[in-house]
Amino acid sequence: MELTKENTLALRNKLIGQSVRLFYSDSPVKITRARGQYLFDENGTEYLDCISNVQHVGHCHPSITEAAARQMDLLNTNTRFLHDNIITYAERLAATLPAKLSVFYFVNSGSEANDLALRLAQQYTQQEDVIVLDHAYHGHLMSLIDISPYKFRKLTGQKEWVHVAPLPDTYRGVYRADQSNPGKAYADAVKDVIDQVQSKGRKIAAFFAESLPSVGGQIIFPEGYSVKVAEYVHSAGGIFVADEVQTGFGRVGTHFWAFQLQGENFCPDIVTMGKPMGNGHPLACVVTTAEIAGAFTANGVEYFNTFGGNPVSCAIGLAVLDVIEKEDLRGNAIKVGAMFKHLLQQLSSKYELIGDVRGVGLFIGLELVTDRELKTPATHTAAYIVKRLKEDHIVVSTDGPWDNVLKFKPPMCFSMDNAKRVTQCIDNILADIKTKNLELDRDDV
Ligand SMILES: Cc1ncc(COP(=O)(O)O)c(C=O)c1O
Repeated sequence: MELTKENTLALRNKLIGQSVRLFYSDSPVKITRARGQYLFDENGTEYLDCISNVQHVGHCHPSITEAAARQMDLLNTNTRFLHDNIITYAERLAATLPAKLSVFYFVNSGSEANDLALRLAQQYTQQEDVIVLDHAYHGHLMSLIDISPYKFRKLTGQKEWVHVAPLPDTYRGVYRADQSNPGKAYADAVKDVIDQVQSKGRKIAAFFAESLPSVGGQIIFPEGYSVKVAEYVHSAGGIFVADEVQTGFGRVGTHFWAFQLQGENFCPDIVTMGKPMGNGHPLACVVTTAEIAGAFTANGVEYFNTFGGNPVSCAIGLAVLDVIEKEDLRGNAIKVGAMFKHLLQQLSSKYELIGDVRGVGLFIGLELVTDRELKTPATHTAAYIVKRLKEDHIVVSTDGPWDNVLKFKPPMCFSMDNAKRVTQCIDNILADIKTKNLELDRDDV
């Protein structure tokens, strides 16, 4: 017997730590099944999912379920036995990456991947310090809270080995799209951080960044940024870690990895992957160069991860890659993403509240402001739109330092009709705000 929604909530409040938060905390949704880009609540009501980038190829995709069940029925062990799945999977992933990224470590979550990346960087460089971007989030382990300004600012603060560079946000950051070469300007800001660190006698082990900062507000790096940063970081003896936990596996459409948007002459030294990799199954990974992996091996300590890279996880990972290819989900991300962005851009000519529409593929942000000149974040308006979209049975959430960016990272099977429906609903809500003259960022929502 299923619990009533009220009972589920009451028991959850009692049994589950309250810092494990719910979407729509004042009126949570109970989801009991899902398919493709649709979620269904306990009454069978359908919700359109615009944010589950984990269920990359679609919720409960039959090919993934079938691959998991088949391997589950046959064998699941740890990586201390030889098995073909881990090899086949590593080979398939290697084919999507530049040749120098050739050694894989399989783990269970984005946090584990980033924690291992940090260890690899520090072991290889024999240096300690890390540069991260403002507002970044890299995971929930203590090591990652330390390198996540989004978290440490609310907790114990910044450790002496962690340094923060400005978020290369060309919409509201210090260097904007209308000035010449913002990519170089933001990279030079990283160089300034390196100089300050070195002037204190400290040394950089790594520059850590998401290839498209998501918690930071769906930010797209300006052209030339990563190449220049890598140059500066390398000359300081450090390495470049690209966190692709949110953005990998073709979400940007044109490329398999978001770091590839920075051009063919850019290659990170480590890439971490997670969320979409197992379509909801806990599967994550670190890939690096033979040289960095060699330094890690040379410390003589075994790296053992009980569940990482087991035959079931790898069978699922392989099935995800197959579905991306067979259903041309990258092609879909290009087509639907471009049209969705275009539709949202059209709305911005109707509503002053829309400050910016940005994104690539199915990674899109709609930034709301109360004043276009001042770019004042319209945080309450964004929260109001999320709430109203829920009434339209559309699941969306916000991101960015001021929570004023509506983020869209739907399963990759998101359709043109889905994009049209979401745009129409946002249009209706914004029209309502306009006609009723609601000043949500002054009034209480
Ligand atoms: C960019 C990024 N890196 C790492 C993580 C941590 O991944 P996980 O929650 O799987 O540990 C997250 C999770 O939200 C993330 O967004």
